[in-house]
This record gives sequence, structure tokens and C-alpha cells, in this order.
Amino acid sequence: MNRRSFVRKSSLLAAGSLALPQISKSHNPPFSAMPVIVSTWDFGKAPHEAAWNAISKKGSALDACIAGVKVVEADETNHSVGIGGYPDRDGHVTLDACVMNEQGNCGGVFFVEEILHPSELARMVMEKTPHVYLAGQGAVQFALEQGFKKQNLLTTEAKEEWEKWCKQTNYKPRPMDEKNHDTVGMIAIDKLGNLSGCCSTSGWAYKMHGRVGDSPNIGSGLFVDNEIGAATSTGLGEYIIKICGAHLIVESMRNGRTPQEACEAACLRISSKYKNYKDFQACFIALGKDGTVGAYSLNKGFQYTVTTNGETLVYDAEYLE
Ligand code: GLY
Repeated sequence: MNRRSFVRKSSLLAAGSLALPQISKSHNPPFSAMPVIVSTWDFGKAPHEAAWNAISKKGSALDACIAGVKVVEADETNHSVGIGGYPDRDGHVTLDACVMNEQGNCGGVFFVEEILHPSELARMVMEKTPHVYLAGQGAVQFALEQGFKKQNLLTTEAKEEWEKWCKQTNYKPRPMDEKNHDTVGMIAIDKLGNLSGCCSTSGWAYKMHGRVGDSPNIGSGLFVDNEIGAATSTGLGEYIIKICGAHLIVESMRNGRTPQEACEAACLRISSKYKNYKDFQACFIALGKDGTVGAYSLNKGFQYTVTTNGETLVYDAEYLE
């Protein structure tokens, strides 16, 4: 896969200022380049190929995002989404996901075990129930009613890693690093200019049983407003929830910020409120109604992937200095 790094210098007003920060221009795919697909991290070419196939064959932006996210969910080699995800501290793989479409409809599933594609299940919650969220056993029951089959999601490799972790005396969840990154968030705009998104994770490795992060939460892990744009997140969910990250970004865009500025402002919101921000990661990507892309992270190491004109590139995101 081709890689390109951006080196952009940002000049920011003081954190917490009401004025818009002055930030350099974001990566700007031209309007005519739509569709545009953006996702968190570098999960390889396959998810973006699946999404591109869907969107270029008259699929909606939501079809594309779910097609892409399902590839990541089915990939045993990543340990942060779907099968192969590291379990919680009791050895259970528990998955969270949500979707949101151009009509402002949304669905999410929390704390789901033994169902490979929580992204697709989240869509069914949106489309086939009067609710927005289903959690735990209720979500699994609904999945089975919809024809999903239960399967073991704890791979031998993930189980061995968990067993090693269990031998440690300090009972601490494992923080995210480049190897142990988390969460696929994918947002897209189709040829008609309609936006949607999907977000899926197995959450923080060795978390407490029952813990849920930002990813299935509409407004924290994902938000779409078809008049304005879309945003999604990855990183330590507890802090992203505290600022309602994805919603904050879309509202910033509504108030005039570019997607890049809005992602940067969300990181500044975290760093201004939580002085330990160097100790964890939080990352955001955003897509404007005109196809403009933004991305930013609290700390070094975040990458994101963009497809336009059928070409997929991975970028290093800027981060707070
Ligand atoms: N961002 C994923 C999580 O915190 O669960």
C-alpha cells in the first residue's frame, strides 16, 4: 500500500478559547472526487476495496462502510475488532458497534458475545426494531432471531496472550499502542453526496467484564449529519465519551470549522480538561459534506486511510505537540 505523510504545522489559539483555532488546510480531495471513504488506522487494503466495490456499484455510503468494517471484523490478525479481538479480563470477547445513516437514523449494539458481525447487527437494530441500542444477551437473542449464528471469537493466539496477561500480578487493562490499536471507524460520502458511518471494536484489551467504550455510542464513537458531515473516533473510549467526541466534531463543523480544524479542536478539548492526556490516545477522523477529510490525534502514532477515485492511501495524522 502506498503511504504518504503530511507535515503540517498548526498555529493554535489557546486551548479552551471560544475563537476558532487557526489551523492549516486539511487534506482536501476535490469535490469531483466523490465518493470518498475514510477509516481509522491502516487495516490493510481489503476493507477499503470492499467498501469501494459497494459504493461504486450503487451501494449507499452505509452499505460501503458496513462492507468495509465487516472485513476487519472477520480478520483474525487484528486484536481489536471482531474475531481475534483480545478478551476482557475474564476471558470473554465482547464486541460493540454502531451505524448511522444519511437520514439521521442509527443503531448500536453493546457487549455482544459470539456474534461475528456486530456492525451488521447494529444496522438491523436500526432498521428492524423501534430502538436505537440493544445490549448483551438481548442483542444476541435478536441476532439469533435475525439468522446470525453463534461462533467462538476467542482465537488461540488471543487466548494465549490473555493467559500470559493473567499471570501478571497487576490487574491493569492493556493500553493501546500501535500493535494493540483499537476500533475501526469508517465514514463515507457517496456520489450523491450522502454521508454514513459505521464503527466497531472489541474494546480495551482485558477491560472489566461489562465495560463499554465510545465505539457503539452515537455521538461519541460516531456521528453523522447529512447536512454537515460525519466523524468517528478511536482511542481510549472513556475520554472520548467525556467530550462526546464525534458529535462535538460535527457541531464544530456546523459552526464553521473544517473537518481538520474540528478534529484538532476535539483533541484540544481533551487536553485542556484532562492533564494526563499524554498517557492515553484519542484520535478522530471527519468528513465534510464537500468530501473534505480531517484527522487528528492527541498523541503520535495515529494513521488513517482514505480512498478516492479507487485509490487508497494511508496517512500519518498530525497530533498535539
Ligand atoms: N475506542 C474503543 C474503546 O475504547 O472501547
